[in-house]
Amino acid sequence: MFMYSKKVMEHFMSPRNVGEIKDADGIGEIGNPVCGDMMTFYIKVKDNKINDVKFKTFGCGAAIAVSSMVSEMAKGKTLDEALKISNKNVAKELGGLPKNKLHCSNLGADALHKAIENYKKKQKNKK
Ligand code: FES
Repeated sequence: MFMYSKKVMEHFMSPRNVGEIKDADGIGEIGNPVCGDMMTFYIKVKDNKINDVKFKTFGCGAAIAVSSMVSEMAKGKTLDEALKISNKNVAKELGGLPKNKLHCSNLGADALHKAIENYKKKQKNKK
C-alpha cells in the first residue's frame, strides 16, 4: 500500500473551488492518456489576474487533490505567474505523491495553462 501525504488527503476530502464558471473567460480541458481521467479548469480574469477559478475533475483522489491545489495556487495570480505553476511545483506543494500516482499530477497545471491560452485566444479574437 502506498501512502498519501496529509496535504493530499486534506485536499481530497475537502477540495477547494470545485464547480463550473458559467460565463468563464477561459476554459481548459485535458485528459490523462495514462488512465483516461479528465479535468476541466474555468477561469475568470480581471486586470490580467485570475480573479476566480473553478474546476471539474473526473478522476482519482490524487487528481482531485492536484486540481484543488492548482486552483488555490492560481487564485489571485497574474496570468504570467499562473503560467509558471508547474506540475512539479504542485506535487511538491502537496507534499509529494506516490510514484505510481505521479502521472495524476500531470493534468493540473496543464489544464490551467490551457484555460489561460483559451482566454488569450478569445481576447485576440475580440480585437
Ligand atoms: Fe487518473 Fe489519477 S488515476 S488521474
